[in-house]
Amino acid sequence: MTERVSTLVLFGATGDLARRMLLPSLYGLDADNLLPPELRIIGTARTALDDGAFRERADEALKEHLPDGFYSSEVAERFLERLHYVPLDINEAEHFADLARAIGDPCHGVAIFLSTAPSLFKPTIDGLEAAGLACPTVRMALEKPLGTDLESSREINDAVAAAFPEERTFRIDHYLGKETVQNLLALRFANLMFEPLWNSAHIDHVQITVAETVGLEGRADYYESSGALRDMVQNHMLQLLALVAMEPPSDFDATAVRDEKVKVLRALRPITGADAEANSVIGQYARGAIDGETVPGYADELGRASGTETFVALKAHVDNWRWKGVPFYLRTGKRMPGRNTQIYIQFKDVPFSIFASRGATSRPNKLIIGLQPEESIELRMMAKMPGLDRQGVRLREVPLDLGLANAFSEFRRRIAYERLLLDLIEGDPTLFVRRDEVEAQWGWIDKIRAAWADKGMTPRPYAAGTWGPSAAIALTERDGISWHE
Ligand code: BG6
Repeated sequence: MTERVSTLVLFGATGDLARRMLLPSLYGLDADNLLPPELRIIGTARTALDDGAFRERADEALKEHLPDGFYSSEVAERFLERLHYVPLDINEAEHFADLARAIGDPCHGVAIFLSTAPSLFKPTIDGLEAAGLACPTVRMALEKPLGTDLESSREINDAVAAAFPEERTFRIDHYLGKETVQNLLALRFANLMFEPLWNSAHIDHVQITVAETVGLEGRADYYESSGALRDMVQNHMLQLLALVAMEPPSDFDATAVRDEKVKVLRALRPITGADAEANSVIGQYARGAIDGETVPGYADELGRASGTETFVALKAHVDNWRWKGVPFYLRTGKRMPGRNTQIYIQFKDVPFSIFASRGATSRPNKLIIGLQPEESIELRMMAKMPGLDRQGVRLREVPLDLGLANAFSEFRRRIAYERLLLDLIEGDPTLFVRRDEVEAQWGWIDKIRAAWADKGMTPRPYAAGTWGPSAAIALTERDGISWHE
């Protein structure tokens, strides 16, 4: 199923994701002439709007969220012409019939993107099915959260599977749409030099950090039912881990790549019982300062006390031949000192330093893959400092910088959703998450949550603008390792 669809339906079209990401991404694709010329985009939500009012809203969203200088009235005019709107209450069968009428013959290919609360997935799918909109030429894309635990995720997956088989189901993890995340695969599998070293014989440990400066951002209801572990680790961070740790797939296609990822996810050592106290730290931000500005604590923003974690640090292991004994430290938090997403791979030290007798100390090599705020790949190597070495050899760590922004400066930095929406429209599921992956992710996360509950672990406070509770520092320091910042 790789034909381009001629209709894209956005459920939740008046929501935040559509305004901030989906409409600007579709505009970006249109600006680059990548959308099928005949593609129509039908927005639906409960709000009563007509095409004109929806287009006006969309135009405002573009002006607000497109990068400076990217909005062009000419492209906007063409793009807005594609937009249509059907008000839809999921309890009204007649509204699904309206949608079906607006779509016309679904045989021409339809992609439906659900960015609504997951509790609405099942009734929406039932409504679509009843209106004849689940036929073999219709694809279904699902935005997170896909449940709150393994059981609820299975319920959602079952409800979807009853109408849409796996090959027509596109589960979104927007991290997979990020250019540097895909570059991780190019780095590993389009170069000879890393793969022979990519194992426990040569890698000391891996750190994955996703630090954000934002706080609750008005998402109290959602975040209270989620917390950092389920909001960030269950999906984005485990996908990053899987891409770092997976075996080389035999092809860059949906089956081969996802087969390898799921093996890693299934090989994650469960963190249970007393291990949870030793190998995980949870925190919640208290009042503090970011960029010199005072910000309130989580509970103040929420208006009440809460046991939800806004920070989590974990020490994980992938129990297989390649990664035996290599810790993967994962850390994510809201209200950290800076926005910083990176994968840090520390190699082992040289087995013997010939320079030690000349007073030089060497440090292990490091590969640092930056995702945010800038996309970068940097290899830290040891080099001799210039000089005549009368007082001994001096070595210094210097970066071999693959500065992607400079190397590819002629390319526009795209929103992650551009890639994913185009793949959805064209029917390529490689960068979407398969059911077995999601369920392996939830299975691992559920055990951690159960252990926290069992051990009565609650979030420790940390001041906004710091790197989480001090216990997170102890988590790595105990192993003689510092977090890379
Ligand atoms: C979302 C989470 O999935 O990812 C948010 O729900 C988080 O809480 C966001 O802020 C981070 O995405 P990005 O692309 O800004 O790193």
